[in-house]
Amino acid sequence: MSLKIILYTLPFLFFLYHILVYFHTRVPIVNTPRKYFDQLFYNLKIPKNSTIYELGCGAQANFLFRAQNYKPCKLVGYELSILHACFARFKAKLKKKSQKTPIEIYCQDFWKVSLSDADIVYAFLVPEIVQKVWEKLKKEAKPGTILISLADQIPGEKIWQQIPTRPNDTKTTYYYIYRV
Ligand SMILES: C[S@@+](CC[C@H](N)C(=O)[O-])C[C@H]1O[C@@H](n2cnc3c(N)ncnc32)[C@H](O)[C@@H]1O
Repeated sequence: MSLKIILYTLPFLFFLYHILVYFHTRVPIVNTPRKYFDQLFYNLKIPKNSTIYELGCGAQANFLFRAQNYKPCKLVGYELSILHACFARFKAKLKKKSQKTPIEIYCQDFWKVSLSDADIVYAFLVPEIVQKVWEKLKKEAKPGTILISLADQIPGEKIWQQIPTRPNDTKTTYYYIYRV
């Protein structure tokens, strides 16, 4: 196969792979823009020794990498897409030496794991799935656990904190934070 064919085929296969993962999870693989985290971490107080999860951490797991600065005791990312999970794991390995708390990445379905020890859960998903995550947390997480949802509100639930991602922009989206 010539190099040209490979170069044309690879992006198509990658795109196809994303579509297949989407049909499985019903959540598109899109990263939280990095600059959104500036506002989040500026406004949110993260206590020391927190146990932090990123549900569907994608290839970057950027929330976990930023949360490292707050001396957490455990940082865990779950990702169903094997390609993205492998990349995130590789990134965590590369940065291992500079990490105070190691970041654990698992290629696993987050519906199948317990979040009972969570203090903070980050989710950039879709409204129906965020709602289901909230139901899961209400069942198994301890009181005080917070769920940070980028862009998706949970109907009928009281928002504990709301943080704009771009405060100077009238079209800003928000982080909606809920507390068990
Ligand atoms: C919108 S992306 C967010 C990526 C990353 N958290 C971020 O904010 O940059 C959502 C990710 O969740 C993953 N995902 C969806 N459902 C999942 C599940 N049940 N278990 C593990 N990962 C899941 C998708 O594969 C996708 O990579």
